[in-house]
Amino acid sequence: MTDRRLWTGAQLVTFADERDWGLVPDGAMVTEGDRLRWVGPRDALPAALRADLAETHDLGGALVTPGLIDAHTHLVYGGERSAEFELRLQGASYEAIARAGGGIRSTVAATRQASEATLHRLALERARALMAEGLTTLEVKSGYGLSLDDEAKCLRVARRMADTGLTVRTTFLGAHAVPPEFDGRQDDYVEAVCDWMPQLQAQGLIDAVDAFCERIGFTPAQTRRIFETARGLGLPVKLHAEQLSDQGGAALAAEFGALSCDHLEYLSDDGIRAMARAGTVAMLLPGAYYFLRETRLPPIEALRAAGVPIALATDHNPGSAPGLSLLLMLNMACTFFRMTPEEALRGLTVHAAQALGLNDRGRLVAGQRADFCIWQAQHPRELAYYFGRNPLQATVVGGRQRIGD
Ligand code: NIG
Ligand code: FE
Repeated sequence: MTDRRLWTGAQLVTFADERDWGLVPDGAMVTEGDRLRWVGPRDALPAALRADLAETHDLGGALVTPGLIDAHTHLVYGGERSAEFELRLQGASYEAIARAGGGIRSTVAATRQASEATLHRLALERARALMAEGLTTLEVKSGYGLSLDDEAKCLRVARRMADTGLTVRTTFLGAHAVPPEFDGRQDDYVEAVCDWMPQLQAQGLIDAVDAFCERIGFTPAQTRRIFETARGLGLPVKLHAEQLSDQGGAALAAEFGALSCDHLEYLSDDGIRAMARAGTVAMLLPGAYYFLRETRLPPIEALRAAGVPIALATDHNPGSAPGLSLLLMLNMACTFFRMTPEEALRGLTVHAAQALGLNDRGRLVAGQRADFCIWQAQHPRELAYYFGRNPLQATVVGGRQRIGD
């Protein structure tokens, strides 16, 4: 007896090629273990694969998409920043609040105070909200500990979330802000971050390295130092780039073969060209754009024209994007960024996987991981159309239906 399972009665969104949805109206899938063994029109299913089935599922005409991937989050932190939200509504800018010692630093204080158990409970609650809308793979950044022990604590919490069945990728963002004990010694702090990197890597806590290259973050020279250290350790890099100003961060990250550059409202033509050459993904974060009441759009048309793959993520964090809805990101990407519903969903699947360096997921094709979402919808554009309505029927992770979504 195999553990082969047959799934029929589904309209499949395969993203099998770069052109379109890759719709298969009356589709079937065969999963074996945690993989897709076969995907295609039901009437083309080879007879040999109908034999020895452990289970058969008739999905009753539901829509099936690849599992959703949130490839940019800051999910592990203590406290919240609603008071800062009120200040911003009264006219204070995100940058001014950060310079006055609020912003990231206030979350660092709350995160240092919180126990590992508390951080785990809070992060799990947030992950559950994302899973209720079909999350199957999650990236989590550190960056609210900013000491070796506190960064390790947060990264361990992130890793432990894999207990839910999610695939979790962790990114070390020690260069998120300068902690108070390094006040006025920013270069020393960068050296400390570079010292911690191999130690955290040795503990198995890092898959990639990120930095916040910004006027209120780190300079391009400091970012380069972080990236050189990462490269020496064989760790891929990504960057918070061009969110509030053009620092040339994207071109710098592309020089290091970055997996993704994220935010990008102030991205220049040079940055776009460098990203296109390096195959770096443009990770757009409509939740932060919205919540910071940003008015400058990322250069979508130029990214498209240059053939840069565009991904989307929630950027969940307590300062610039406290939202926990992947479906809302689809809607916002279309309304704010004028992406097509197809581009938006591709951004939360195919291109999100690419931004994590994971080439075994994001599409419904044979050989990929059997991570998929089953939706009550007639057409995939509905996923981007509604907001505040969740048509998820079930999620399958590694070939098994997830319970409790
Ligand atoms: O992606 N820009 C830097 N990091 C986060 C915000 C962090 C915070 O405000 O706590 C972001 O927007
Ligand atoms: Fe972020």
